[in-house]
Amino acid sequence: MRTDTAPAISRHDYQPYPYRLPRVALQFDLDAECTRVHARFEVERDGGGLPPLVLNGQELSLVSVSIDGTQLDAGKYRLDDETLTLFPEAARFIVEIASECRPAQNSALMGLYVSGESLFTQCEAEGFRRITWFPDRPDVMSRYTVTLRGDKTAYPLLLSNGNLVAGSELENGRHEAVWEDPHPKPCYLFALVAGSFDCLERRIRTGAGRNALLQIYSDKGSRNKTEWALDCLHRSVQWDEQRFGLQLDLDRFMVVAARDFNMGAMENKGLNIFNSSYVLAEPDTATDASYHGIESVIGHEYFHNWTGNRVTCRDWFQLSLKEGLTVFRDQQFSADMMAHGLSEDAARSARAVKRIDDVTALRVAQFPEDAGPMAHPIRPESYQEIANFYTATVYEKGAEVIRMQHTLLGEEDFQAGIREYFRRHDGQAVTCDDFVDAMDSVYRARHPGKSLDVFRRWYSQAGTPRVHVTLQHDADQGLCSITLRQHCPPVGIEKLQSPPLEKPPLHIPFALGLLDAQGQALALRHEGQEHETVVLDLCAESQTWTFPDIAERPVASLLRDFSAPVIVEYDRDDAELALLARHDTDPFARWEAGQELASRQLLAMSQSGSAKQEDAILIETWRALLHDPALSDAYRARVLTLPATKALLEKTDPMDPLAVAQAREDLRARLGQALADSWLAIYQACAAAEPREYSPDAVSSGRRALKNLALAYLAAGRHPQAESLAQAQYESARNMTDRMGALSALVGQGDTPAATRALRHFYEQWQHDPLVVDRWFALQATACATRTDTVRALMLHPAFTLRNPNRARSLIFQFCMNNMLGVHRPEGYEFWAEQVLALDALNPEIAARLARAFDSWARYAPSNRDAVHSALQRIQQHEPLSRNVAEIVSKALN
Ligand code: PHE
Ligand code: ZN
Repeated sequence: MRTDTAPAISRHDYQPYPYRLPRVALQFDLDAECTRVHARFEVERDGGGLPPLVLNGQELSLVSVSIDGTQLDAGKYRLDDETLTLFPEAARFIVEIASECRPAQNSALMGLYVSGESLFTQCEAEGFRRITWFPDRPDVMSRYTVTLRGDKTAYPLLLSNGNLVAGSELENGRHEAVWEDPHPKPCYLFALVAGSFDCLERRIRTGAGRNALLQIYSDKGSRNKTEWALDCLHRSVQWDEQRFGLQLDLDRFMVVAARDFNMGAMENKGLNIFNSSYVLAEPDTATDASYHGIESVIGHEYFHNWTGNRVTCRDWFQLSLKEGLTVFRDQQFSADMMAHGLSEDAARSARAVKRIDDVTALRVAQFPEDAGPMAHPIRPESYQEIANFYTATVYEKGAEVIRMQHTLLGEEDFQAGIREYFRRHDGQAVTCDDFVDAMDSVYRARHPGKSLDVFRRWYSQAGTPRVHVTLQHDADQGLCSITLRQHCPPVGIEKLQSPPLEKPPLHIPFALGLLDAQGQALALRHEGQEHETVVLDLCAESQTWTFPDIAERPVASLLRDFSAPVIVEYDRDDAELALLARHDTDPFARWEAGQELASRQLLAMSQSGSAKQEDAILIETWRALLHDPALSDAYRARVLTLPATKALLEKTDPMDPLAVAQAREDLRARLGQALADSWLAIYQACAAAEPREYSPDAVSSGRRALKNLALAYLAAGRHPQAESLAQAQYESARNMTDRMGALSALVGQGDTPAATRALRHFYEQWQHDPLVVDRWFALQATACATRTDTVRALMLHPAFTLRNPNRARSLIFQFCMNNMLGVHRPEGYEFWAEQVLALDALNPEIAARLARAFDSWARYAPSNRDAVHSALQRIQQHEPLSRNVAEIVSKALN
């Protein structure tokens, strides 16, 4: 057993940095093999004493270091693996450091690295230390001047943060560009890009009258794929002005697409660097989902310019300060864009669709995380490797915690809270508490006697709370009372604590509606007013609310619009769920009721080995939904999609992944057959309505989603026309959504000649486009007939490489994380361990993400559990092992 895991860093150990570094000048002599960096910074001490100046550095070669122009001898500083320590003799001085790094050798893609023929940087969270020695922490903020020098042919464009202030020709075919960023920033927001790119740009005038230049840079030849991204950027600027009153504070805002990128994108000040998958789109190569993904990520990174950059994090424990808030903002942006231009009802439905998608993502990724070995509060208490904490909890649950504040305050007061936050903290590096303080000041002022004191506990508590509901009806008095009781069982390391950890109650805004037996909404009297939906403030372990004038026993519509990230426990029969699925006036709760009905069916099937179960209620409910003319296509597509296997597994103990995945396949086939005529009619109606001109708007993408869902059901049900319809759709498709929908229906039929032919054709046609080739790998990785040997064979394909994160994700991650039927076998787990280790040698951040594929293993049924256990041990015993993977595996084995 290894015992040498890295020490944990604790939130409570925070100490301010003892020096200020108001100005930094960086000079780069760029070269893929060896880049020389010259850093010069002013250092100032405010307090007493002259503590050592500790600088971080990784994988750098030191050339020289000087203070106030005098080069230091080796005895005058201390250099070890990860720090350079200087011993100041004055309260103000200038440090100059020359060092070298090796971009072409950098397969971790942190720091300065090569992608394609170009150079890129990635600094968040701790990548700047791989560029030069520096206090690599977000609370040290400086003004940067950056000089870039490089070969003019290899690197015709030299970009960095801020404004281009000078450029000149140098000897030997080299040139130079000087950039100045007027805004002080932490080093994690530094960026440079050098290379040859296409650029699409637009001059805009902001609401405040500032002229600004928006630019999208991408690989040569892809300019025509950046129009959508530029549109999204422009709309982001306008939306942040209109909804949040936040103005663009730059003359120039650049986005650059990189083929090799660990994450989605990065909000470097004025120079965002994006994974190309979140920039490039044209109808022929990008699906509706890609278009919407681009919109949300472009929005997200742009919104960081205020929530993240103008106000940043004091330390990395505060990551959710910027990420939770910015995810909330991008979710609101997308919802507003989807609803734009629609009638009131259609807009409500479009917003519900966005909410359903966000909640589904939360349940598939965050709920399992919050119940597993990596469970942590949205503001973690400790970490070994911060890169492991860019999690669904910090991001998605963090966004839910902001959303609850929005629910409690309402839009107007929430915006007042945001204004207060910027009034207090613009230009600072602050904490989550500072954010809640600003919101709380508005909340207290508007609601005397109330506060966010109990609410704050969301920041320190891990685990998904459960809210148990009881409904009592007194027919004589016409009273209905609702009792809510919350509890949050210990999770992750909390389970090891003795005495057991106390988890005090949280403040849970719980949205409730009541319907009569015909599904009509009842008016609820609450705090002196009548409403169709009331938001109950559950702040204690148990609370009861009583509503008058309720003649008959009502049907409860619970946690409307998913008003809090909790699990609701409520006993009710299938008939009540069916009623809600048909009539609930809250579109989210209505969807939820249908999902719950399907979940019950699936869980029953998984326990009985899919033996035929009574399913009349489900089939009839679905038939009604299929034919409900009041529902939008996008909404119907969500309602008629079965719950995700991962979300279902969370409801079982022990978990039997194969049984649940198989049950889902079986029920899909059953629904495909039982409703075949309806699917066919829907398919034909949607197909006939497809316009020539592609648009990713909510209505058209919703129609395509429903059409392709119908096709998938026909294929699952082995409808005699399914294959020919899919084939015809594949051949005539005028956009990637339809082409992929058809291909996926064909591949879903197994290794048929038609599937093989279409796959071959697809590769031949799109082999020049990396993002489309990723789709080709991903589709095969997740096909239900795919097993480990299929994946091994695909890894031998010339287009496969582990070095490109998108490619590794498209095949290895898709198989290990999204192909339940394929991977949950002894040879699947072995394959996984092998790939974690192979990736770890190249890119520890990516390896650590793959290492989390079976986080829930301790809850699996014994045979799966034992097999994952040995695979985990095999990883743990491997040497060397990165700190990233070591942390994940040691927690999993705890
Ligand atoms: N800060 C980025 C975002 O959420 C994510 C990121 C983290 C990117 C670390 C790269 C590295 O927008
Ligand atoms: Zn972010």
